[in-house]
This record gives sequence, C-alpha cells and structure tokens, in this order.
Amino acid sequence: MGYLKHAKMNTSFNLLQEEIKKCTKCELCKTRTNVVAGSGNPQAKIMLIGEGPGYYEDQKGVAFIGKSGQLLDKILAACGFTREEHVFISNIVKCRPPENRDPTPAEREACLPYLLQQIELIHPTIIILLGATALKGLIDPRARITKERGEWRTWHHYLVMPTYHPSALLRNPSLKRPAWEDFKKVVAKYRELVDPNHFSAHC
Ligand code: URA
Repeated sequence: MGYLKHAKMNTSFNLLQEEIKKCTKCELCKTRTNVVAGSGNPQAKIMLIGEGPGYYEDQKGVAFIGKSGQLLDKILAACGFTREEHVFISNIVKCRPPENRDPTPAEREACLPYLLQQIELIHPTIIILLGATALKGLIDPRARITKERGEWRTWHHYLVMPTYHPSALLRNPSLKRPAWEDFKKVVAKYRELVDPNHFSAHC
C-alpha cells in the first residue's frame, strides 16, 4: 500500500474507532463500562470476529482478555501470530450484554454497520469467525457452526474460516483438536497468500 493511502486508511480507521467508542445506538450503552471497539493491528491480514465483550473486556475496553482471550492468545502463539502484528480482533457487538447473555437481534443490527466498516477499512485477506454468533451475525442466520467450521468460504471476496469460539473449547475440551485443525488451515493459507516464510513452531 502506498504511503498516502496508508495514512488515509489510518485516519478513517481512527475516526471510526472514536465513533464506535461514543455509540448510543442500542440499550447496551446504558449498562456498559467501556466500549470494546476492537484491538490489534488495523493493517493485519487476519481479522478475528467474536461475539461480544465479557466482564473483563467491559472493564478494560480491550477484546478477548478474559479466560477465552487467554486461550485465544495461546492458539495464536502456536500459529506464530501475535496480536500486535498479525491480527485485528473485533466482535459482533461492541458493548457487553448484561450477564453475558446473547446479544439480541436489535443489538446485533445496530452494531453490524461498525463491523462492516472495520472489515472494509482493514481489508483482511482472511476472516476467522469465532463461534455461532459470529457466523450467524455476519454471514447467515441459518448457518450451523458444527456443520460449517473448518471449511473455507468466500463472503464478499473475503476468505472466511468459521471455527469454534474459545469459550466452547473451554467448556468442551474435545473441541480443541478440531479447532486446532481449523487454525492449521489458516496458517497454511496465510503462507500461501500473505507470507510464504511465516514461521510457526507448531504447524
Ligand atoms: N468473547 C467474545 O466473543 N469476545 C470478547 O471480546 C471476549 C469474549
């Protein structure tokens, strides 16, 4: 990307993040502590999309820093990816649903334009959907994560890999192996399309 285009993208992206942080478009703004607009490298070629902030994310305003986030960090490290360099992490909704309930259709609908703008500005090569809410919220409300995970699909010219949410792996450790197979496919695709020299000690 040229220097000017880069600078323009950064400005638009930062403006978008600031707008998201001030959002009052749904009821969740009344109960949140912090908006979790997304974190990582906006120039990254991989974008991860989760469901919505939990308690710790709401406290700090940073995506995936609770138990699921710690597991996600381990998976990313095994792939040779860091948050700072290789990925940007966002969510279907940017504010915590009280008691960690599922976001309602109205909340998802109010928040979706922010996610779509983030995707357009980041323009990742690979999108990883973490769990059913991300798969249904972004791509198809009828899709089943158990059926679709592990298979590449294209969505508006983006390559998408649906996989299990880290919290599902914590609840049911037998899902860790299939999830790891999905991430190995991501590493192979990253080498094919982004960096043939990408190093990972584990795959
Ligand atoms: N779970 C999510 O889906 N997103 C977060 O940011 C944290 C936990």
